[in-house]
Amino acid sequence: MNADTDTIRARVREQYGRKAVSTAEDCCGPGCCSPAGYSKEELARIPEEAFLGEGSGNPVRHADLQDGEVVVDLGSGAGVDVFLAASRVGPRGRAIGVDMTPEMLDRARRAAASTGARNVEFREGVIETLPVEDGTADVVLSNCVINLSPDKTAVFREAFRVLRPGGRLVISDIVQERPLLIMDDDCGCVSNAMLRADYLTTIRGAGFEDLHVIEDRPWRESPAGVDASALTLRAIKPKEART
Ligand SMILES: C[S@@+](CC[C@H](N)C(=O)[O-])C[C@H]1O[C@@H](n2cnc3c(N)ncnc32)[C@H](O)[C@@H]1O
Repeated sequence: MNADTDTIRARVREQYGRKAVSTAEDCCGPGCCSPAGYSKEELARIPEEAFLGEGSGNPVRHADLQDGEVVVDLGSGAGVDVFLAASRVGPRGRAIGVDMTPEMLDRARRAAASTGARNVEFREGVIETLPVEDGTADVVLSNCVINLSPDKTAVFREAFRVLRPGGRLVISDIVQERPLLIMDDDCGCVSNAMLRADYLTTIRGAGFEDLHVIEDRPWRESPAGVDASALTLRAIKPKEART
């Protein structure tokens, strides 16, 4: 791990550690506490503390989850997409969240304990080296996290590794539309993001096929004058790929 990686991770952990212990009263930013992306019906199906309003889309809605499937959520935060996925895959399925921030894991695990859900699990780890076995996931989700990673090539390589052949990658994330010179944004959501073309090339370079952008909109939280977009996309690990 180089110094940049160390610095980025420390900063991200520190920022999201604080958000994890926030409440509606000490709302932490423009995205926080906004139900954007989720319907009332979806939010009613998950524990209240699992939703922090930190996503850039709603990948579960586009994942076509089936009963019994295994889902891994990269950077699960307080667990919103893990709980939603668990409600779709049912008791025969499993939803696993991976996050590196202890406070987020604590919050998500408390929420899991409050529901008694047995098909939900939160693992501590980084998304560049996932604590998940090869070829065991039907679906990999992620929501506004890969943009923060200092090594997106490793993230997509790991997503590919843990998916079974034919498995789906369904993610919401932020991309830059023009190279930024200097920018210091809150958690690095935009400043650590990749240029759109490089991002899509990186996903294909990891071996994914049938890449489709499902949602594409300007990222509302970009600092003034910064051009960034929130994408939700879906790609497939080819059926003939080796795990
Ligand atoms: C913007 S929040 C999104 C949380 C959640 N996906 C949601 O939609 O509410 C980013 C989350 O990703 C986690 N995270 C960021 N970089 C990570 C990394 N490299 N490995 C593991 N977790 C990471 C942070 O700890 C934080 O919980």
